[in-house]
Amino acid sequence: MKTNLSFSTPAEIETECLVTIVFDITEKNRGEKDRSPSAPQAAPQVTVDTSDAAVKAAATDVIAGGEVTGKTFETTLLHHPAKLKAKRLLLLGGGKAKGFSAFDLRRLAGAAVRTLKAKGLRSFVFVAPDAGLKAEDAVKAIVEGAFVGNFDSDYYKSDRKDQKIDALTIVARGDQARLQQAMDEARIIGESQNFVRDLVNEPSNRMTPTILADRAKKMAEEVGLKCEVYGADKIKELKMGAFWSVAQGSDEPPALIVVRYEPADAPEKPVLGLVGKGITFDTGGISIKPADGMEKMKYDMAGGATMIGAMRAIALLKPKAKIISIILATENMPSGKAQKPGDVQIAMSGKSIEIINTDAEGRLVLADGLYYARQLGCTHLIDAATLTGAVVVALGSINAGVFGNDEQMYERFSTALTKAGEKMWRMPLDDEYKEIIRSNIADIVNSGGRYGGAITAAMFLKEFAEDVPWLHLDIAGTAWTEEQKPWIAKGPSGIALRSLVEFAKDFAG
Ligand code: BES
Ligand code: MN
Ligand code: ZN
Repeated sequence: MKTNLSFSTPAEIETECLVTIVFDITEKNRGEKDRSPSAPQAAPQVTVDTSDAAVKAAATDVIAGGEVTGKTFETTLLHHPAKLKAKRLLLLGGGKAKGFSAFDLRRLAGAAVRTLKAKGLRSFVFVAPDAGLKAEDAVKAIVEGAFVGNFDSDYYKSDRKDQKIDALTIVARGDQARLQQAMDEARIIGESQNFVRDLVNEPSNRMTPTILADRAKKMAEEVGLKCEVYGADKIKELKMGAFWSVAQGSDEPPALIVVRYEPADAPEKPVLGLVGKGITFDTGGISIKPADGMEKMKYDMAGGATMIGAMRAIALLKPKAKIISIILATENMPSGKAQKPGDVQIAMSGKSIEIINTDAEGRLVLADGLYYARQLGCTHLIDAATLTGAVVVALGSINAGVFGNDEQMYERFSTALTKAGEKMWRMPLDDEYKEIIRSNIADIVNSGGRYGGAITAAMFLKEFAEDVPWLHLDIAGTAWTEEQKPWIAKGPSGIALRSLVEFAKDFAG
């Protein structure tokens, strides 16, 4: 999708469709006393968020008719709007003007894309709202949201219509250079998020560890990153006993993917390590999963894909800091070579692990990934993983779970979350939880059972991050959108990429 800025008067722009936001500015809802069904309900007051009088005038009639309420995601499409050069005018409900934020605008832009592409339109013009936002923040949110909305997961349907918006123009006012920079940045982030979603969308027969590694290599070549891919020999040589214990059960070769961003102008330290769970299919292994819903386990590599996408965006945005990404890619299969409950494995760090449940494989591969990142010199660590069903029980599909052993690092990440417009909720890591993963015959067990399952999984990872500042993102409930939303299609969401990129941008400074 091409993105352009325009400083013209909206009414003067020739386009298939001009999109403006309408806000609900009704002062107060009906008072308590008037709750009776017979009390007349005042029509909501709405305002078109533009200073262009001609655009306001074009919407006057339909608003006066009471048809437009300004409710969030409400769409009203007018054809041949009077006195406008645009062929259509889309009035997009923005909800209450009070408290309107970049988070809301991002979703509205996604909704505009999804509404208009479904009608076969290929291009449109979005009028950036005047309400409350800095112009560059508005432009960034619109572009990011538009990219999110433009993605669909129906890649393998033979009657796929491939409806896409090819060109988006944003009308804004402000400093051109700054707005252009915001737009370029947002395009890099939006494209990278969709790159992640493409990887996650692929089924496991088309996204093996080898293919994932090839995609990482190709991406690295395109943007000028170093990428090394290692196989079983190197995994054994490094004594990655936890990673190998999962990989040993599969006929499909595993891949240890290392992507490096090491700009010449970056200081020696700090070094950020981005570690991703890349289970290209999770059957559960010998502790096999029920058949019902098992097909979803093709997205168990979402954390790894997110890190590959984040490295793409980082390479293009060029922050002045060293960043290394490690992706642990393998299938988790039952077979005659597969590990069994009760087995004891020695992780790269030397810690011994009693395998209680072979389905708790993500923490095993990440244990060695986190430790290896430390060996490569990382001073700060973030991992992303579709790690537990328990985080889905705790937080549903709205918030991802975030865990951390360092307050300062968490605070910085929290700022990045807000900038990125992503929702994650912090979960605890009290020492008391450690008792739950104590083993009778080894240092720790790989499963603490049902209660507090997301936390005990994170406690397991903490054993391998040790005292290095570390964050863990459990994206099991949020990496895949089960229902279509106005702003995003069903399927892979690309969650965490934007926050990771915002964090990386400010990491050195
Ligand atoms: N990949 C799953 C977690 C998952 C669940 C991802 C639902 C996406 C949606 C993970 O490997 C797993 O199987 N976890 C187990 C751990 C348990 C055996 C301790 C779980 O959550 O049930
Ligand atoms: Mn599993
Ligand atoms: Zn898994």
